[in-house]
Amino acid sequence: MSFKDHIDTNKLPQHIAIIMDGNGRWAKKQGKLRMFGHENGTQSVRQTVETAAQLGVKNLTLYAFSTENWNRPKIEVQTLMKLLISSLKKEIATLQNNNIRLNAIGNLEALPSKARKELTHVIDLTKNNSHMVLTLALSYGSRDELLSAIKTISVKVKNNIISPEKIDESVINEHLYTQNLPDVDLLIRTSGEQRISNFLLWQIAYAELYFTDVLWPDFSKEDLYQAIVNYQKRERRFGKTSEQLS
Ligand code: IPE
Ligand code: IPE
Ligand code: MG
Repeated sequence: MSFKDHIDTNKLPQHIAIIMDGNGRWAKKQGKLRMFGHENGTQSVRQTVETAAQLGVKNLTLYAFSTENWNRPKIEVQTLMKLLISSLKKEIATLQNNNIRLNAIGNLEALPSKARKELTHVIDLTKNNSHMVLTLALSYGSRDELLSAIKTISVKVKNNIISPEKIDESVINEHLYTQNLPDVDLLIRTSGEQRISNFLLWQIAYAELYFTDVLWPDFSKEDLYQAIVNYQKRERRFGKTSEQLS
């Protein structure tokens, strides 16, 4: 029996976001270097992307590298960047075969130019794909995103392009890296940590949170199905009462 049989495909989360955590611990458990975990984590990425697309999920956002991750040892940062470049090259076929458009959020200027170039290349190659949007959060931090939005909006106010009274939620949305993406419905974090780590603070305002102890390299199709089944059992009230919803 698969959790898949319990998924109602008419009630899929429109936007799933995942904090892919636990690569280092996964490797350490086997006496290997952290990098071994990151390498194996890419298998989970491919499988999760394909599974989400096949189910009909419209938006999948993966936290791949945070603004805080720049503070890791230089060698780990370098190898992660190399892994990003090689994965982007390798997964073009996966994206094309599944009609997936690649998107990226974060302070992309901070990425090494080779990585940025490859990213821009794959984004361009897949720009007309329409089945699912895969967003990679790279050099992403929610506070950094909000700061840059506030700065841009402030300049517009100063130059009379927008008046302060006109600033509403949609204006904020338009100035975030996530721009046209809908709010997150389901946020998954692997590895047992129960924290947000500066990920999509504005966009998860009403997301359902799902934490699993599974380490990212072990995250399987079934784990994704299980998270969605769990999500579908919840009542999303958005401040209303249960009675109002039925
Ligand atoms: C997630 O795994 C990958 C990145 C943050 C890049 P970690 O590298 O954080 O693995 P743990 O948390 O140390 O096990
Ligand atoms: C969060 O994982 C960032 C990514 C998954 C890319 P971390 O492993 O960096 O998070 P903290 O620092 O332990 O909260
Ligand atoms: Mg971690």
